[in-house]
Amino acid sequence: MSLLEVKQVNFSFNSRKFFKGKNQANKVLNDISFAIEEGTCLGLIGSSGAGKSTLGKVILGIQRPQQGQVLFRGHDIYNADKATRQKIRRDLQVVFQDSYSAVNPRMTAERIISEPLENYEKLTLDEQRRRVSELLERVGLDEKDSKKYPYQFSGGQLQRINIARAIALKPKLIVLDESVSSLDMVTQSLILQLLKELKDDFGLSYLFITHDIKAAFSISDHIGVLEKGELIELYNSKDQFFSSKNPIVKRLRDSILAEHPRFRTITKHGIIENSEKLI
Ligand SMILES: Nc1ncnc2c1ncn2[C@@H]1O[C@H](COP(=O)(O)OP(=O)(O)OP(=O)(O)O)[C@@H](O)[C@H]1O
Ligand SMILES: [Mg+2]
Repeated sequence: MSLLEVKQVNFSFNSRKFFKGKNQANKVLNDISFAIEEGTCLGLIGSSGAGKSTLGKVILGIQRPQQGQVLFRGHDIYNADKATRQKIRRDLQVVFQDSYSAVNPRMTAERIISEPLENYEKLTLDEQRRRVSELLERVGLDEKDSKKYPYQFSGGQLQRINIARAIALKPKLIVLDESVSSLDMVTQSLILQLLKELKDDFGLSYLFITHDIKAAFSISDHIGVLEKGELIELYNSKDQFFSSKNPIVKRLRDSILAEHPRFRTITKHGIIENSEKLI
């Protein structure tokens, strides 16, 4: 059984605007199916507005699809009983792009990280403090950081705190929605490295949502391309992605070239090749 199975999911936002008396539905996800196996990372790439975050929310149980199913360890997350739903909520965590808006600015790092522990585990204050120290250390911060407030951290440090909170309950799957996208290149690669280590140490699985193909390839075992609400292709390797003949995938490949002209090479026939060195 796969850890997560998404089966023929369709999702629309119901527009409030009426056109000729009809309620216009804005279809965002069209018949999406895929699976994520335990201990693996699926990178989901696609341009802005493709439906990536919406798909993340459907998987997190936030946006109920009009059709289709999301199965977590075989349980339909939208039709599970209360106890199962609670267990799933524990096993499914999320880290968003904007590290500052994801935290309460009036809480110390210790309180931010302890929140899920308070909700799900009955620990003594001493045990809780010890867990928070271990988690801070695990994400590359210091025990002394526990008393600091969000404004006292850099974006990268605060993202480490968000990651510490996400792993506090030892979840099975983390949805990472553009989690490294607003960080500078150096911080980005350090956080990606941390995510890879955590994945290996705890057998975590990720849905890594990004528009950054390079970041996606550095961490993912499989890559899916979402465009205009359709899951166009799924790849098991970089080679498959680079040899795809799909015009949308080709455009995505070209966009890497456009962003990084220094990686372009011009052949003797004057043809511009290729982005593979990038990744
Ligand atoms: N709450 C909402 N109500 C109505 N339409 C929405 C809502 N949220 C998103 N949409 C629309 O759904 C589509 C997909 O949005 P989504 O945020 O999932 O895209 P995305 O792939 O995550 O884009 P980005 O890379 O910019 O984050 C877009 O056309 C967007 O305008
Ligand atoms: Mg998004």
